[in-house]
Amino acid sequence: MKQFVSNYTGEGAYHGSTNSKPQIDLNPWGVSETEPSTVRRCISKRSQPESFSGLFSRKYEEVSQLQIPSQSDLSVENTNFAWKAFSQAQLESGPITQEVLSAIKPYLQQKKLYCYVDVKTQYFEKGDLAVDSNHFHIDGTVVVRGSYAERLGYPIVHDMRARFNRESIPPQYFAYQSSDHCPTCFVSKPIQLIVPELIPNFNEFDNIVRRNKPHLKNHPAGSIIHYDGQTIHAATPATKDGWRLWIRVIETDKKISASSEISQCYKSVYRQT
Ligand SMILES: [Fe+2]
Repeated sequence: MKQFVSNYTGEGAYHGSTNSKPQIDLNPWGVSETEPSTVRRCISKRSQPESFSGLFSRKYEEVSQLQIPSQSDLSVENTNFAWKAFSQAQLESGPITQEVLSAIKPYLQQKKLYCYVDVKTQYFEKGDLAVDSNHFHIDGTVVVRGSYAERLGYPIVHDMRARFNRESIPPQYFAYQSSDHCPTCFVSKPIQLIVPELIPNFNEFDNIVRRNKPHLKNHPAGSIIHYDGQTIHAATPATKDGWRLWIRVIETDKKISASSEISQCYKSVYRQT
């Protein structure tokens, strides 16, 4: 299997490209999970965004430990896709991915409208990253792009406070990774942080997390973990060459179909030059 390689820029191609995109509605999905309440307040009341105190990383749970697959089995798994419906993903996956999805299925919360699966089988050289950023971040942020974001001075805005709205149940995630050489690093205990309500990227957020010296835990090889849209984590560079299978199951109210840009991101590893 050919491994696509891109230059690492730290821009975060997966976790929110800085490229401007047109926006037709502040909340085109019309669900509380994606309601950009702070952006709406700042625009309608012409008020400035502030900082707020939020309790992050309340959900980090290792729910199952599976046998770690061999490098030779991983090298022929050849499963790569993004935002595929769970039932379809089961049909189109290699044997290790199918086993992991079967192990995750009993833990699904089933409180959201959609359940998607992302899978990457990647070959890392030492120093490669799975995504184009190693900043601490949360997944599935409430994002506003286009003209509304530009009115606040940015091409893209992550509404961090919106994730803490009482009506908004965060998206739920189950993640698996197969190997010990490039784990995601999780803030695995709750941490109270004062952060800006709106951020254009995760640079400042990453600094705030690191300054507060959180309790960190690397995602163990072969394990399935449950986290949610308030759980802080970051990619780590590979410590040696080798294959890794990464799987994420997402329960969300946001209807998503993967663009070719996202699919290309998934196929790539990011190399620091
Ligand atoms: Fe992430």
